[in-house]
Amino acid sequence: MNTMLTTDKVHDEARQGEAFQPFANDPNQYKKHFYIESYGCAMNFADSEVVASILNGAGFGATRNLEEANLILLNTCSIREKAEQTVRKRLTEFRKIKERTPGMLIGMLGCMAERLKAQLLEQEKLVDLVVGPDAYRSLPALIEEAESGQKAVNVLLSRDETYGDIAPIRLDSNGISAFVSIMRGCNNMCSFCVVPFTRGRERSRDAHSIIQEVQALCDKGYKEVTLLGQNVDSYYWIDEQKDETVTFAALLEKVALISPDLRVRFSTSHPKDITDEVLFTMAKYENICKYIHLPVQSGSSRILQLMNRTYTREWYMAKVDRIRELLPDCGISSDIIAGFCTETEEDHQETLSIMQYSGYDMSYMFFYSERPGTLAARRYEDDIPEEVKKRRLQEIVDLQGELSRQSNLKDLGKTFKVLVEGNSRKSESDWMGRNSQNKVIVFPKKDLNEDLKGTYVMVKVTDCTKTTLRGEREL
Ligand code: 5AD
Ligand code: SF4
Repeated sequence: MNTMLTTDKVHDEARQGEAFQPFANDPNQYKKHFYIESYGCAMNFADSEVVASILNGAGFGATRNLEEANLILLNTCSIREKAEQTVRKRLTEFRKIKERTPGMLIGMLGCMAERLKAQLLEQEKLVDLVVGPDAYRSLPALIEEAESGQKAVNVLLSRDETYGDIAPIRLDSNGISAFVSIMRGCNNMCSFCVVPFTRGRERSRDAHSIIQEVQALCDKGYKEVTLLGQNVDSYYWIDEQKDETVTFAALLEKVALISPDLRVRFSTSHPKDITDEVLFTMAKYENICKYIHLPVQSGSSRILQLMNRTYTREWYMAKVDRIRELLPDCGISSDIIAGFCTETEEDHQETLSIMQYSGYDMSYMFFYSERPGTLAARRYEDDIPEEVKKRRLQEIVDLQGELSRQSNLKDLGKTFKVLVEGNSRKSESDWMGRNSQNKVIVFPKKDLNEDLKGTYVMVKVTDCTKTTLRGEREL
């Protein structure tokens, strides 16, 4: 699949512990201000940074203070029903602020825009403007329309928009890691997934603009980039000037060569598309992190077929074997759905056993939530009772807890190169960072004045929980 990182993935230990950095542009230089909140996947967070850039161009500075905002934007997610409910609740809260702030506008961006435009704009009047993921360039014009009291909507999807030429303004950045979007949309049509409908057809961004963006981040002192796409392995771009085809493996290599000091991550890989070439490229460069998010979704070949994942259980297991063979120290994580249509106890057991086989370090686990308009909603009955879905999900979560614990226990005594991201969430006297495998490692500061943020240090693991490694710095 995809890069549908959940909010948790983005607001994890590293980012939660982080104070907000000042925005790249001094907000005081602007007369008008926008406030933006993002939900859902990393792609949405990256899109919000493109939106920030477009709005800066239209004279809006970013603010963290809702009361100061002339424009409140919500970048929304439709992946599961719960995500939509959260957004609705938030919009109702914003409407109350709007009632006491004359002239304030509220806008809905992202994946819910297409699905709910009529309802939220016209019937419930919760928002003043609605802008889909491919229409952000029209934001300044739409804001003008909304200011003059018209309904402002653009949810058109595009076949070629990549925002490649727009330099994102980093929001909430820790100044160390950044997302770089390399493609948009998805052509896979997994039957449970709304993304192909909300984000449209797959298209790849031109490689030059990706390299330029990463180079600029590196020049500013960033130490880690994550290349983002719904299905990064199908990245494909033709450089007509050089008559060169750039595959994902080739792009990865180009990005890795920018600086050996810059870590490169990517997300998300589809098991059907990740190639040996990508694995070889990962092995060749120390700065390409040894971590693959390889969503399995289900361990049953029958369910995988209904999901339209286009691989079988055996095919997936062979892919895991190949990763272990070529990259013995690689971390692997997954997305798993419990209780998809017609799932039997045997199918569920197959999901548990493929988790064991793959030895995931971490997983994002969900129960199936039918999404209107998807292939599954049209073709299959959502026939697994909620309590069964929840029980199966709990078994999956429990097993993942055990697998994560086992994976962390294997790291005891090992020394890792850690990129320090900031203070540990729990204590200012500890640093937190990540190893190449994306595991969080916490270790004590030598003294409170040392500044290791953004540097690489060697840390020997001495202790662990199922979510975190603890260690001592090696000099
Ligand atoms: N119900 C439950 N989970 C879903 N996902 C995507 N669509 C649905 C759905 N309708 C999960 C998949 C995907 C992750 C981002 O969200 O596991 O990989
Ligand atoms: Fe991921 Fe499949 Fe959805 Fe595409 S259709 S975003 S590959 S889950």
